This record gives sequence, C-alpha cells and structure tokens, in this order.
Amino acid sequence: MSNVHKAGTFLLGDRTTRRLGYGAMQLTGPRVFGPPRDPDAAIAVLREAVASGVNHIDTSDFYGPRVTNELIRKALRPYPGELVIVTKVGARRGADAEWLPAFGAQELIQAVHDNLRNLGVDVLEVVNLRCMFGIHAPAEGSIEEPLTVLAELQRQGLIRHIGLSNVTRTQIEQGRAICEIVCVQNHYNLAHRQDDALIDELAGEGIAYVPFFPLGGFTPLQSSTLSAVARDLDATPMQVALAWLLRRSPNLLPIPGTSSIAHLRENLAAAGLDLPRQAARALDAIGAHAGSA
Ligand SMILES: NC(=O)c1ccc[n+]([C@@H]2O[C@H](COP(=O)([O-])OP(=O)(O)OC[C@H]3O[C@@H](n4cnc5c(N)ncnc54)[C@H](OP(=O)(O)O)[C@@H]3O)[C@@H](O)[C@H]2O)c1
Repeated sequence: MSNVHKAGTFLLGDRTTRRLGYGAMQLTGPRVFGPPRDPDAAIAVLREAVASGVNHIDTSDFYGPRVTNELIRKALRPYPGELVIVTKVGARRGADAEWLPAFGAQELIQAVHDNLRNLGVDVLEVVNLRCMFGIHAPAEGSIEEPLTVLAELQRQGLIRHIGLSNVTRTQIEQGRAICEIVCVQNHYNLAHRQDDALIDELAGEGIAYVPFFPLGGFTPLQSSTLSAVARDLDATPMQVALAWLLRRSPNLLPIPGTSSIAHLRENLAAAGLDLPRQAARALDAIGAHAGSA
C-alpha cells in the first residue's frame, strides 16, 4: 500500500472510495484510439494502481473503443471487492477516431450491455451519462430522454448508480429530478476553474465531483508558480497540482491518467503531500489569472 490512503475517502454511491483514483483513458493508442503499443505495460499500470490502494478507476467503452475496458478486465478480474469501476455512455467513436454523440435509447442500451460484457461484470457500479451538446465543454440541452433510459436500466438491475459528465448546473438539477446523481465528472484543474462554485454546491449536497484532465489532459499544466511551489516542497509540479485538488474540497476525487508506472507512482505519492497555506494561496491565484468564471 502506498500513500493513497492519506488522501482520505468519500462515499461514491454507497461505496467508500479513496479520493485519489486512476483514469484509464491514457492506456489506449494515440488519440484514444486503437490498442496501446505495449499492452503488457498497460496491464502492469492497472495492477500497480490497484496494488497501491487505488479503488476508483474511471473508464469507458469509447476509449479505444473497448480497449481500456478489455485491458481492465484482463488485468484485474476477478475484481477486488472494494474496487469501484466507473464507466461512461453517451458517445461513440467514428472510423477516424471522431467523438460522436450516442444519446438514442437503443444506443444507450447497447452501450450499457457492451460495457457489461467488455468489463466482464453483471452490474455496472457507476455509469456516467457523458453529455455531448458541447464536446469540449458543457452546453445546455435536455438530458431527460437519455437519463430516463439509464434510470430504467438501473431499475432492471444493470446499473447500480448514475452520474453525469460534461454538464451544467441546470442539467444536474434536471437529472436529480429523474434519478439520484452520485457524481459529476467535468473538466477542472488548477488552471481551469469554471466549476468552482458548482464544486462547493455539490459538496454541500454530498455529491462527488470528479475532475477530468486533473493534470491538464493532453497539454499538461505548466506554470512558473506551480514549478516554484514544487521546488520549495521538493515535489514535482504534477504532485503539487494533485495535492491542490485534494485540498480544494473533500468531495473532489481526482482520476489522473497515465500510461507510465513511474508517473503513476509519482502521482499516487501526491496523496501524502501537505500543501502549506501560503503555497495553496499562490496556487489559487493561477486559476484567477487564467480568467476562470
Ligand atoms: N468525462 C470526460 O469527458 C473525460 C474527458 C477526459 C478524460 N476523462 C477521464 O479523466 C481521466 C484523466 O484525464 P486524462 O488522463 O485525459 O488527463 P490528465 O490526468 O490530466 O493527464 C494525463 C496526461 O499527463 C501525463 N502525465 C500523467 N502523470 C504525469 C506525471 N507525473 N508527470 C508528467 N506527465 C504526466 C500523461 O502522460 P503519460 O501517459 O506519459 O504519463 C498524459 O499525457 C482520463 O484517464 C479519463 O478516465 C474523462
């Protein structure tokens, strides 16, 4: 067991989940499409994450497609009882790796069955409805029809809990009128802080907020302040970025992604990094300078 337990836990659905998790998207080929160059290395990363105490893994059948789910199944089955695998539906991949909406009832039903099969489980622990009204950022649009389909699959016992991804506050409210929403997964990190108010509201409501791109995603975070704080603390900038997220709010569950065991170890060690108040204040200002709402 690494330091992962030092980040504490949060109730995700009805499962006690360690706050520092792992996002599997980086395990595919380039552009999140096709298999990885070295599948054994991808499997080793997954096994090391779980052996280190990670019990929250984020995935989707549209990563690859199917690639991350199949890797997870191969690496981790039989699954440890405490492992929470969170998947997403609502998008599909085109032949040229495009990200396309897949919100139709039949597409959603098919996606849930595909996730069940490719992960090798009878029930999906958490399914996020990934909204595609805007591909890169939340945009308004009704989620009533697609969410009603997922709620019906939940009643049938195929899904235990439901979450939302890439959504606005209005969509979260619309969703909560249809079924219980246990988590919201949106783009958020030190420099991308549009959801600051939303995070605080969800904390008050006991809903997990899972920031995707916690390290900046395809363009990893770069900031002279971040580098200076990291130097002072004898840590790396990525560790400081994760420690800042963990300090930000108790309902915040980062899922940093990596295809490298060395980066995985570095990222998980961030759970044990204490950010002095002055360093946290300096880091807070990065988002303000980036002009977040
Ligand atoms: N709901 C959504 O729409 C959505 C969208 C995007 C992502 N997600 C989920 O969120 C998870 C996290 O997002 P992400 O993986 O795209 O982005 P991320 O965690 O912000 O960053 C991943 C990138 O940072 C690099 N990296 C990781 N650790 C590092 C370290 N210690 N030092 C230097 N570089 C490091 C990775 O490269 P290496 O592989 O070389 O380490 C990769 O290029 C995904 O895996 C996915 O599960 C959800």
